[in-house]
Amino acid sequence: MPIHRSSSPAAPSPADNSDAAMVALLTRPLPRDQFPVQPSQPDMVFQILSEELLLDGNSKQNLATFCQTWESPQVHQLMDLAIDKNLIDKDEYPQTAEIERRCVNLLADLWNAPGEAVGCSTVGSSEASMLGGMAAKWRWRARQQAAGKPTDRPNMVCGSVQICWKKFARYWDIELREIEMTSDRLCITPESVLEQVDENTIFVVPTLGVTYHGLYEDVAAISRALDDLQARTGLDVPIHVDAASGGFLAPFTSPDRTPWDFRLERVKSINASGHKFGMAPLGVGWVLWREPQDLPDDLVFHVSYLGGDMPTFQINFSRPAGQVIAQYYDFVRFGRAGYAAVHGSCHAIAQACAAEIAKLDGFSIIHDGNADRGIPAVVWTLTDDADRGFTLYDLADRLRMRGWQVPAYPFTGELAGTAFQRILVKRDFTREMADLLLADIHQAVAHFQEHPAAPRQPPAERASYNHL
Ligand SMILES: Cc1ncc(COP(=O)(O)O)c(C=O)c1O
Repeated sequence: MPIHRSSSPAAPSPADNSDAAMVALLTRPLPRDQFPVQPSQPDMVFQILSEELLLDGNSKQNLATFCQTWESPQVHQLMDLAIDKNLIDKDEYPQTAEIERRCVNLLADLWNAPGEAVGCSTVGSSEASMLGGMAAKWRWRARQQAAGKPTDRPNMVCGSVQICWKKFARYWDIELREIEMTSDRLCITPESVLEQVDENTIFVVPTLGVTYHGLYEDVAAISRALDDLQARTGLDVPIHVDAASGGFLAPFTSPDRTPWDFRLERVKSINASGHKFGMAPLGVGWVLWREPQDLPDDLVFHVSYLGGDMPTFQINFSRPAGQVIAQYYDFVRFGRAGYAAVHGSCHAIAQACAAEIAKLDGFSIIHDGNADRGIPAVVWTLTDDADRGFTLYDLADRLRMRGWQVPAYPFTGELAGTAFQRILVKRDFTREMADLLLADIHQAVAHFQEHPAAPRQPPAERASYNHL
């Protein structure tokens, strides 16, 4: 047996005159309700706070979020360099403004803009969708006014969208015509869209990577149906693509899929989240318009820039610059081949997980992470032919005991009563991690066979945090 020596005891730290303050800080709770009167020692506050944060979930096991949970050391350094820069101060930080401009150019190239596209960074896809939606509403209103038609009942047509579109519709007084999913139609179809559009439709919003199940909606087919509608009736309904996830996936991992971007003339604007599969740190999204005339002038404000002016379109004024700089770093660092390699491996890991989960008795795969069908996610449900002694909500709870955040949640429409479960595979969910998760899923299922879970409250009350 090897002989181990205990390490020598750490030398006692010399007492200093701040010990009393340190003890005071350690022995009482941090301020919760009343603004503190006295300052506290920075190191101690840092230590206590960082320990408190350990109670948060571990982001590496957060398979619920679509957002990046891994950043390179270089990105950390760039974020540090930019921590004091305000993105809106174009005159003070002209090089950062130039970097944002380059990002828009690179995205216009990635999304196949035919000529001069316009666009900007945002806080994320929620702000980006808000801006895309406002531009569509303004364009529609101008068209209606020019034709002497009413402008009081705008609507938008979409499938089961992320909550940001419900916010957009409510905040901007738009009727949301949401085509709910059914058991045999998880994505919107051209026929279902045509049933909903009329002359008050400001746009149709297909999603490239539906939040519920990760599948890509067929933008090209919807666009063709709207072309046909225009040929028959003269009604010209534009498309905005919510490519929150897919905008940074499809161009790299499914380059040959049918066009979904500015190659389709009807696609007037696209949003995507830089902080999801764009691999930038949290706090950056993008929205681009096909051509300058697709972004109405009266939505644009001007800030000073190198003695001249720069047009801006955003909801916030001040915003951190680091995320945009880091985004540019990622574009240059990875290039098309690097993004294809990173995301390609995520798809491969998702498919490997799906193959294993499919072997479990009663588990049915909805999306297996195939790059041509959707994002690198695995989504499954339980076949309803038998009582297995547990629900997916029980499984989510049990996995949580090992730190995994694998949400169970209901879909919408007809499927609102059925539970689904989803994992998002990102850069830091390695094959090693995947095998550990799969082992824990196996163990949890075996546990429930021995000890069936007690029936609990209905699904809607049990859904865990799911980013819908
Ligand atoms: C399809 C879709 N659109 C929009 C959003 C909102 O994006 P963000 O979190 O960047 O605001 C999400 C978030 O998951 C999404 O999945």
